[in-house]
Amino acid sequence: LPEAQVIVVSNREPYIHNTKGDGVELVVPASGLVSAMEPITRACAGTWIAYGGGTADRQMVDGDDRVQVPPDNPSYTLRRVWLSEEEYQGYYLGFANEGLWPLCHIAFTRPIFRESDWDAYEAVNRKFADTVVAEARNERPIVLVQDYHFALLPRMIRERLPEAIVITFWHIPWPNSEVYSICPWRERILDGLLGSSIIGFHTQFHANNFTESVDRFLESRIERADAAISYGGQTTLVHAYPISIEWPLQLLAKLPDVAECRARVRDRFGLPADAKLCIGVERLDYTKGILDRFHALEELFTRHPELIGKVVFLQIAAPSRGTLPAYRQLHDECMRYADDLNLRYGADGYRPVVIVAEHHSQKAVYEIYRAADICMVTSLHDGMNLVAKEFVAARDDEQGVLLLSTFAGASRELLEALIVNPYDAAMMSGALSQALTMSAEEQRERMRRMREIVRDNNVYRWAGSMLLDAARLRKRGELDRV
Ligand code: G6P
Repeated sequence: LPEAQVIVVSNREPYIHNTKGDGVELVVPASGLVSAMEPITRACAGTWIAYGGGTADRQMVDGDDRVQVPPDNPSYTLRRVWLSEEEYQGYYLGFANEGLWPLCHIAFTRPIFRESDWDAYEAVNRKFADTVVAEARNERPIVLVQDYHFALLPRMIRERLPEAIVITFWHIPWPNSEVYSICPWRERILDGLLGSSIIGFHTQFHANNFTESVDRFLESRIERADAAISYGGQTTLVHAYPISIEWPLQLLAKLPDVAECRARVRDRFGLPADAKLCIGVERLDYTKGILDRFHALEELFTRHPELIGKVVFLQIAAPSRGTLPAYRQLHDECMRYADDLNLRYGADGYRPVVIVAEHHSQKAVYEIYRAADICMVTSLHDGMNLVAKEFVAARDDEQGVLLLSTFAGASRELLEALIVNPYDAAMMSGALSQALTMSAEEQRERMRRMREIVRDNNVYRWAGSMLLDAARLRKRGELDRV
């Protein structure tokens, strides 16, 4: 597809400009989607269309709402779309994050479906469709639609640019058809998504769930052998494409060695120099199993009181969707649980749990990965989880242990992690004590294997395989027309 224009659409933008004092601060958001798509968009010199949510975003664009990014080395165009307060509330906070997010993550948070949110969701999808059409330089761009914010967009693009290749990637899980059936707009969502040429999920399991949902709710023909769905005169491929990261060679070259990172991180967060450091790094989100992690630590201290004072848990919790009640509640519960553990097990100069509810730059996060003895990724449900892959990539010393939830897509690839069920506190505390006593040699063997996998299956391979499938589709279409 050498000449094709690549347009990426996501809600979250890769660079946010915020006002800070008299100046402007640049923030790269904590989003797996952004970390994966950014290198790809750079490589394609594409156009990225996203919601301009930063307080200084309007100041930084030209007359067409465009800004060239990355700011220090411009290589693609970011086209910002503005949303009104009502649109943001209904489409983003409401339907996307109180409806679809809990629906797709089986985290036992009841989805909320409001008709007004749905209306806003549809209107914002249309607004993005208008922007795609405005940005398309010809009839045949490749549009990469990202995530659950845009289930209706593929169909809207297809109606106006019938020759476009629309590749939609669903970055979160897809539930089974029974769970999915509670969504009042289940047919409309499936119909919208089937405007895509290709729909990608992280795992075959989620791709199958999607296909089952289509089978149950739409009049369609499913070619299981070809992983294809024919619906309304069009064929859509439904495949698993496990997402990944850019192998961080350049970033690692800029970071201090592991010993220095260990010292710096302990110093920065006031952690005891001799305690084992266990970390969690994510957005403060109820799907991530943060409370379950604290529970495991409590269980560990109950079973092994000799470890009190010898282990410290550092939780980096980037604020997320903080105006929603479910997120505020989680924030308060985490703080309460941490205070309680610190009261019960802490002593002078020792707090077993340190929560830092702040955004951290990628470099700061990598320093923390390098400083840790154990990284806990205990999602209750997760599409892939890129923290697991980043932790592995950060450890060029081949040390450190990854505890990884069996409910994160990454557990299908990183088999040498200690795979855990976050709902099982006894199992998690057992895995923690196994990690704390694991020999350097065993850590090296496991880490080496996992690093090979992440290095080989990097984000370019992920994007490459989708684009290759797209090229095949286009070729087939051209042959059909001859
Ligand atoms: C998940 C979603 C992304 C989203 C990210 C951060 O990774 O799949 O679409 O960007 O969370 O959430 P936020 O709502 O802050 O963009």
